[in-house]
Amino acid sequence: MLPTKYLLVAGARPNFVKIAPIQRAFSARQNGHSPADLLLVHTGQHYSRNMSDDFFRDLGIPEPDINLEVGSGSHAEQTARIMMAFELACLKHRPDWVIVVGDVNSTVACALTAKKLGIRVAHVEAGLRSRDMSMPEEINRLCTDAISDLLFTTDTLADENLRNEGVVSEKIHFVGNTMIDTLRQQIGRARQLPLPDGLADGEYAVLTLHRPATVDSPDRLALIFTAINVIAERIPVIFPVHPLSAPRLKELELHPHIRVVEPLSYLPFLGLVARSRMVLTDSGGIQEESTVLGIPCLTMRPNTERPITCEIGTNILVGTDPRRIVHEANSILDGHARPSTIPEKWDGHAAERIVDILLNQPPCSVPAGPNWPGVKCTQ
Ligand code: UD1
Repeated sequence: MLPTKYLLVAGARPNFVKIAPIQRAFSARQNGHSPADLLLVHTGQHYSRNMSDDFFRDLGIPEPDINLEVGSGSHAEQTARIMMAFELACLKHRPDWVIVVGDVNSTVACALTAKKLGIRVAHVEAGLRSRDMSMPEEINRLCTDAISDLLFTTDTLADENLRNEGVVSEKIHFVGNTMIDTLRQQIGRARQLPLPDGLADGEYAVLTLHRPATVDSPDRLALIFTAINVIAERIPVIFPVHPLSAPRLKELELHPHIRVVEPLSYLPFLGLVARSRMVLTDSGGIQEESTVLGIPCLTMRPNTERPITCEIGTNILVGTDPRRIVHEANSILDGHARPSTIPEKWDGHAAERIVDILLNQPPCSVPAGPNWPGVKCTQ
């Protein structure tokens, strides 16, 4: 019997953190002579050294087998370029399954391409919903989940979202969080790295901002920095800046206690968050990481697709009202951080559960070949 072939897709910074343990769990099973063949695909959505290569190195991810090298562009350009390049990769490698993670443009582009070729799709981190259709990630999540054959979820609220959308229970598997698998694997190394000069354990805050909704609106950004400048009076703030945000900062007056640095690689960033007093962010993944690390997190957005981190974790949704942001930050700095717990199955073994479920799927009933549905094969 031919081995079942899987293409595991990653394109952007948060994807790399989520695929690392899946790749490792597959390798471990392959050592046990499992009939599985995994190829790693990098779409090239993120391509800079500090947005991509450093993550592969830090996380011990092998060189991608396939690099689509699509680079930046508008949403339509980027998505279309990924689809065209990924279709050729699928035709060449004939996978039985395509595994996509998260909610970035690479996720939806590869899911859609695979599905139209009749290839089965597994979505890792399915079912998260912000109910905010102005977020490109929400559109990516909805479209990917609607066409995936297997939906791997990080919490039971996500299962509920999928069931409410009419997804049959057989497709949904609550497995835990592969981003947290990586965190648990790497936290020891991350904590040993030195902090940037002048910062002391528990005596600084970490700031990240990159969502277009935050950084593309000068008014919203100005409101946020009104608050951050007040917080910086009490505690130094370190701010690793995403390439999207960097040009926007020139128009703002930043308090001298706000230290702007280049984007950090995975390990130094994890170490920085783990030893901080609190995090201020508009990111998705950092809401989850800070919950597991027990570090208070203020999410400066009107909504979150990760409500479990607010319900039981350290996350507080503060929006962009400077008074609210400063009030919650002061409360943390005054020692009133609220108690928190870690969501179920965020235990470091999500990827193993995913790979076990994938390896137990029945073989595909549609034969892979040049006559795949929807394919005009020119070879
Ligand atoms: C993407 C994801 C977002 C994720 C974020 C993490 C989508 C819709 N968004 O947003 O969900 O939270 O990644 O970082 O997929 N750039 C570089 N170097 C790079 C990559 C990008 O300089 O390696 C710059 C380019 O100017 C580019 C801009 O960053 O135009 C935005 O990159 P893009 O991949 O379009 O989206 P992100 O904002 O990074």
